[in-house]
Amino acid sequence: MKIIKLSATESTNDYLKELMTLKSPPNFTVVTTHTQTKGRGQVSASWESEPGKNLTFSVLKRHDTLYLDNHFLISMCVSCAVYEVLLNLGLPRLRVKWPNDILSGTSKICGILIENSIAGQEIKTSVIGIGLNVNQVLFSNQAKASSLKLLLGREINLDNLLQALLDTLQRYLNDIRLSTWDSILSQYENILFKKNSTATFQEPHGPLFNGIIRGITKEGKLKVSLQDESVKEYSLKEIKLHY
Ligand code: BTN
Repeated sequence: MKIIKLSATESTNDYLKELMTLKSPPNFTVVTTHTQTKGRGQVSASWESEPGKNLTFSVLKRHDTLYLDNHFLISMCVSCAVYEVLLNLGLPRLRVKWPNDILSGTSKICGILIENSIAGQEIKTSVIGIGLNVNQVLFSNQAKASSLKLLLGREINLDNLLQALLDTLQRYLNDIRLSTWDSILSQYENILFKKNSTATFQEPHGPLFNGIIRGITKEGKLKVSLQDESVKEYSLKEIKLHY
């Protein structure tokens, strides 16, 4: 495993993607930074992280044969790996909010941004970006954010935590293949936030409505049962869960 440690960069995902255009970095190249100045989140959001307090890193995964249809395997493996490490640290009430936010109770402690390169019907590489709030204690403008330090009441060593995450990610990602779909899906659904309980949702610009999360489709869509008993499937941009 090759780890590139930077003092500052705009975005570790962007750094790794740029590196891939210049060289051919090996599978499991990792880029981590003390200060990320233009961190990116899902659906064009930004990711704020106080310099030196948290983990902001990206991992390159090269796939042998992984079809586009199965892209959600990557999300599930990464979420389950991060969940496992945080569970071992003793974080309470851990859940994965679809598609891959890690919550403790209703506080977000980790965000994941996966960017794939595709050739034909196959995913060739994934840049897996992880932002984990570790020792930061003040979050202005991020009402739902929390950190390991706030939740555990102690400072966490960043290097040890990064190593534990990388080891666990490597184990999960080495195992990524279609034959593991059912077992990883049941593992993921077991830790899915609000599964089988009523929650409030909103379609873009639509009214709030209640529904119950039933699980995930093969394409990674969220299955929500509605009040008229029908089940609707949503992709990320089509629904927002209010919590
Ligand atoms: C989200 O919850 O919206 C995803 C946040 C992902 C943030 C990480 S930090 C390291 C990597 N580099 C980025 O620019 N983003 C990801």
